Amino acid sequence: MSESPVAGPGSDVVDILTADHREMLELLSQIEQTPDAGQRRDLADTVIAEVMRHAVAEEMFVYPAIQEHVPNGAKEVEHDKQEHDEIVQLMKRMEDVDPSDPTFMELVRQLEAQLRHHANDEESDQFPQLRAHIPGEKLVDLGKKVQNAKKLAPTRPHPHAPHSELFHKTVGPGVGMIDRLRDKLSGRHTG
Ligand SMILES: [Fe+2]
Ligand SMILES: [Fe+2]
Repeated sequence: MSESPVAGPGSDVVDILTADHREMLELLSQIEQTPDAGQRRDLADTVIAEVMRHAVAEEMFVYPAIQEHVPNGAKEVEHDKQEHDEIVQLMKRMEDVDPSDPTFMELVRQLEAQLRHHANDEESDQFPQLRAHIPGEKLVDLGKKVQNAKKLAPTRPHPHAPHSELFHKTVGPGVGMIDRLRDKLSGRHTG
């Protein structure tokens, strides 16, 4: 298994989120190379949890920063959130499809295309804008907040419970999930 880029302690938010993007795409390409249905399921659960943590952290801390500091940021954020919702819907379908079903691999390819698009958008547009408009130490601080939010986001795959059940139990089904999660976590985030 090849090693994904790992963001270190001094990394800023852009390094961290970019490493996340690489990791998600690497996991998806592993699914495509894995003939075993059980392994595909495990990898899919892992990638779903990774993407959820990433999306939650972005929406809690990064998109507000884009909105505040980047010209035309509000519009960019609106577009990105809409894409996050599409990605979440796709992942919810992946949870319900048997990994030996050809539909599963079709969904994997769709998710890969969506995430590639998401990563390209952010890495070529929003992230450079963040670095242009926000001082370095603030970006490092944002990175710490993102790492913390990723730890708190209740999306870790559990070996003995259906992932979809955890998903629904912790954040509830459907759109608006991020808002509910933000409410849930807001008591612990006072800075
Ligand atoms: Fe995003
Ligand atoms: Fe992202």
